[in-house]
Amino acid sequence: MSQHPNRFRAVPTTHIGGRITVAGDKSISHRALMLGAIAEGTTVVHGFLASEDCLATQGALEAMGVVIERKPDGFVRIEGAGARGLRAPTKVLDLGNSGTGIRLLMGLLAGQPFASELTGDASLRQRPMERVAAPLRLMGARITTSPGGRPPVAMGGDAQLTGIDYALPMASAQVKSALLLAALRASGTTTVRSPGPSRDHTERMLQSMGVRLGLSTDGAGHAVTLNGPATLRGFEVRVPADFSSAAFFLVAGCLGARDGLLIENVGINPTRTGLLAILREMGAAIELRNQRSVGAEPVADLWVTQSELKGIAVPPELVPLAIDEFPILFIAAAAATGETIVSGADELRKKETDRIAVMAQGLKTVGIEVEERPDGARIVGGRLRGGTVDSRGDHRIAMSFAVASLCASEPIEILNTAEVATSFPNFLDVAHAVGLRVSASGDGA
Ligand code: S3P
Repeated sequence: MSQHPNRFRAVPTTHIGGRITVAGDKSISHRALMLGAIAEGTTVVHGFLASEDCLATQGALEAMGVVIERKPDGFVRIEGAGARGLRAPTKVLDLGNSGTGIRLLMGLLAGQPFASELTGDASLRQRPMERVAAPLRLMGARITTSPGGRPPVAMGGDAQLTGIDYALPMASAQVKSALLLAALRASGTTTVRSPGPSRDHTERMLQSMGVRLGLSTDGAGHAVTLNGPATLRGFEVRVPADFSSAAFFLVAGCLGARDGLLIENVGINPTRTGLLAILREMGAAIELRNQRSVGAEPVADLWVTQSELKGIAVPPELVPLAIDEFPILFIAAAAATGETIVSGADELRKKETDRIAVMAQGLKTVGIEVEERPDGARIVGGRLRGGTVDSRGDHRIAMSFAVASLCASEPIEILNTAEVATSFPNFLDVAHAVGLRVSASGDGA
């Protein structure tokens, strides 16, 4: 399906720098499409991330009759179908590699009058969907998952939803968001409780679209309350650059930006920036410049300079706030002096791949000592050799090993890189712009 090169060759280099803008925020782009689709009136998006994941969500919404105009510069106009305007899809909705796409759509479709079926690629068809299906059933939804609780997922349609009070077993923005989307069509109050914070883009966007939420934080955790049914007003949203894409260049900057690297217009929502705190504790020199609000989201330019990193025990409470950044954090740990301990991170095993296992395997291949643990790893910093690493089709692992060339003695060949297009289609261009020597390689190019 992808035209993106399926193999990278990353040649060691020691010096990078400059001024870059990375891809738009994936989480916010998905939400703008979905919430815009069920709003009353038009939603206009600037800086939309046209990556495969977000395009899969666009395709699913279009298959339900939503009119979406998209231009190459990141401009998107969504003609909201309103609370009752979605049509029964004429095909199975294929969300490709996207966990956010399928889980949030389950919430959006749970209270629709028509039946639908959701599926995805081989990676997504291995991922757990009962974490969303089970609470949606408590609201009255009719949902059937496939053996093991995986996709394909059949949504029964024609369910009358009622609000629930539900405590998530783990902090998960995808589950929380799916329940909030269902709550928009439910009668009564829905409360979603989480043991800790998770990204809150859905809450911010719902409020911008006129929905009143109750938000609270106490010793027991975080809670969000929505009184349904509620309607959304179309709005205008500017999508900042994705902190999770900036993360590769933050670590690259720590490893090689002698004269500094500026990453512009990056979303710094505090539910996303756990990596900043972790890298700073490891000794990174990162400054937030020109901090400002863009719509409902905080944004800054990130200035990073080369620093001596040291290993740390990563505070477990930061794990949900850095959940997508562990692949690149493992690279920072490999380049640091001493040991880094990651714990409380078993959710990493349920991402696009088992990120603990695949990162541990990759790092061992290039000569780094890693002890894999059920909920994390112990990584001993050292000098990376070159070698051939299989990213197993995990976009963030592929990009992480490209950055690892900054601390390797020989080239690193990275296999199965096509999925980089799911979140950061122009990664290679931005990598070249800073001076990384990573390019498409081999017959997969
Ligand atoms: C996301 C939430 C996170 C994250 C994923 C995107 C979102 O997953 O890993 O890449 O957009 O809501 P969980 O909420 O399952 O931790």
